[in-house]
Amino acid sequence: MPNTDGTGSRTAIVTGAARGIGAAIAQRLAADGLSVAVVDLDEAACAGTVETITSAGGRALAIGADVSDATSVDTAVERVVDELGAPTVVVNNAGILRDNLLFKMSVDDWDAVMAVHLRGAFNTVKAAQKHMVEAKFGRIINLSSTSALGNRGQVNYSAAKAGLQGYTKTLAIELGKFGVTANAIAPGFIQTDMTAATAERVGVPFDDFIKYSAEQIPVQRVGQPEDIAHTASFLISEGAGFVSGQVIYVAGGPKD
Ligand code: NAI
Repeated sequence: MPNTDGTGSRTAIVTGAARGIGAAIAQRLAADGLSVAVVDLDEAACAGTVETITSAGGRALAIGADVSDATSVDTAVERVVDELGAPTVVVNNAGILRDNLLFKMSVDDWDAVMAVHLRGAFNTVKAAQKHMVEAKFGRIINLSSTSALGNRGQVNYSAAKAGLQGYTKTLAIELGKFGVTANAIAPGFIQTDMTAATAERVGVPFDDFIKYSAEQIPVQRVGQPEDIAHTASFLISEGAGFVSGQVIYVAGGPKD
């Protein structure tokens, strides 16, 4: 069932899409035929993702917004409606790390992580849900993590990523009757700037960090952003309408 924006295609919002996993998801959804709002803190930083999509014949729009700020998100969603069409797919991918052991972690580091991951995912769905309800179709994906199961140095991040799983299941329960599904993808180690920053923080060259991590993973390699984009492509598809409230671990082996 096409969107009603005149283009015949659905519109997706992907947050944190200037780089990494978000950029790969945005590109994949565009290749799947969706118009994609590429949202990140800095509009200019979204240009690369937008250029990749448009040069491949897709439709994309760069939007600068801070997902932790409700007003900023509301303004962004209004722009999406005006310039791309009513959004019926939302991928909450924006994320930050503020890793530290509990006894060294500041309240600011706790709050910052909660604000981006949890409040951010709340703000975007709150702003977009009426468009999904009106269309009687919606697909929500929240980026969780294997860290939701516990990870040393990440009390803030693991709590936020576990919180996103509960959030996902409740969205699935509340919005299911409107044709809206909500699922979480919980990646393991994915090779991005985020994992590069972790390697730097622990003082290990990124190549060594990747090699060591790959040895611990059943499929013997680390993940790439495209691995997550492929899963997202399935979850937003028409045919996945009976898959809701699930957490899919995409980690090269079992996690939960
Ligand atoms: P990344 O650090 O490469 O990219 C994150 C993007 O989010 C950046 O472009 C950043 O500017 C944006 N962002 C941060 N705060 C924002 C805000 N307040 N508003 C809007 N945009 C904001 O990270 P990566 O690796 O691509 O991760 C994407 C998601 O996947 C995150 O939620 C992360 O927690 C999750 N994840 C990543 C894993 C990995 O191994 N890389 C593993 C499990 C989960």
